[in-house]
Amino acid sequence: MKVDGRNYRTVWMEGSTVFLIEQNLLPFKFSILELNTYQECCQAITSMTVRGAGAIGATAGFAMALAFLEAPSGNLLPFVTKARAEIDATRPTARNLFYSTERVFNAGLISREAAVEEAHRIADKDALDSRMIGEIGNVLIPDGARIETHCNAGWLAFVDYGTALSPVYVAHEHGKNVFVYVDETRPRSQGARLTAWELKNAGIPHVIIADNAGAHLMSQGKIDLIITGADRIAVNGDTANKIGTLEKAIAAKEYNISFYIAAPTSTIDINCKTGNDIIIEERSAEEILYQEGPGEDGKSHKILVCSPGSAAFNPAFDVTPGRFITGIITEKGMIKPGKENIINHLKL
Ligand code: MRU
Repeated sequence: MKVDGRNYRTVWMEGSTVFLIEQNLLPFKFSILELNTYQECCQAITSMTVRGAGAIGATAGFAMALAFLEAPSGNLLPFVTKARAEIDATRPTARNLFYSTERVFNAGLISREAAVEEAHRIADKDALDSRMIGEIGNVLIPDGARIETHCNAGWLAFVDYGTALSPVYVAHEHGKNVFVYVDETRPRSQGARLTAWELKNAGIPHVIIADNAGAHLMSQGKIDLIITGADRIAVNGDTANKIGTLEKAIAAKEYNISFYIAAPTSTIDINCKTGNDIIIEERSAEEILYQEGPGEDGKSHKILVCSPGSAAFNPAFDVTPGRFITGIITEKGMIKPGKENIINHLKL
C-alpha cells in the first residue's frame, strides 16, 4: 500500500535481511526495521513491532528461512529445530505463524535456498489472497455502506491489502461511498492507531469510536455491516479474533446486522474441532494499566491510566461461535460456518 506516494509491503526480505514497518511507533512515526537473525524476528513478533495474523505469518516464515541461513553446516537440523520451537513460542493464537514455520521448515530440509524461496512464496501468496478477499468482499458492500470494523485487519496486519479492510479498499476503488466506524480496540488501540491511519492514508471517510459504542450505534440503525479479521478459524467455523469481537457479533445478531469474518484459508485450522480448542494468548496487565503516546516533547511517554495498585486481566483474543457469523470471506469465496462447508471449501 502507498505511504507518501511510495508502495510498501508490511514485511519483506532481501538477501538475508528482513525489513518490516515498526508498528508500535505508528501512526506517530513511520520507520522500517532491519532484522538479520531469526531471534530478532522473534523479538519483533512478541513485542508486537509486527502484528496481525498475516504479517506475523510472513515474518515467522522469513525467520525460519533466516534460521536455515544462520545454521552452522555441521549442526543444521538441531539448530533449525530449536529455532522453529522459539519462533512457534512467540505468540500462540494466530494460526498463520505455525502454517509458515511448518512449510518453510519442511522446504529447508531440501535446501537452505528452498527455505528462502518458500518464505517468499508464503508472503506473495498472502498479498494475492488478501487482494482476492477484497474483490470477493466488495460484492457484499453496497454503495453508501456504513461499516464497523474491530482491531486492524488492514494491510498492516498482512503483507498487503489486508482482509477485513481489503473489501473496503476495493469498494472505494470502484467509486462506492463507504464510511467506516473504527473500534479503538483497547488495550493496544490497533483500531485507533493503525486502522484509522490506513483509512486516512487511503482517503476513506471514517470515525474512531470507543469499543463499547458499537451496540449503541447498531441499536440506532447506524451500522449496515461488520467485517473483522481472524487469527484462527476452527473447522466448525468458530473464529478467534481480537478481544471484543465476540461482543460485536452478539450485538449484530440482536440487531440483525450482517457480521462477516475475512481471512485467508491459511488461517483455518482443521485440527481445531471447535473454538474451545483455540489457545487464547494472555498478555501483560501493563497493556491495560498504562497507555503510551507522544508527549509535547515528541517523545513517547507511558502513563498510568488506572487505579494505582489495582490488578488487570488481559486476554488478547476471544472466540466467536459460528452461529453468530453471517459468512467467512476467503480468497476462494464466501462460506457459511460449518464443518462440511469448510472442508469442501478447502478442497477448492
Ligand atoms: O494482537 P494483534 O494485533 O496481532 O491482533 C490482530 C487481530 O486480532 C486481527 O484482527 C487479526 O490478526 C486478523 S488480521 C487480519
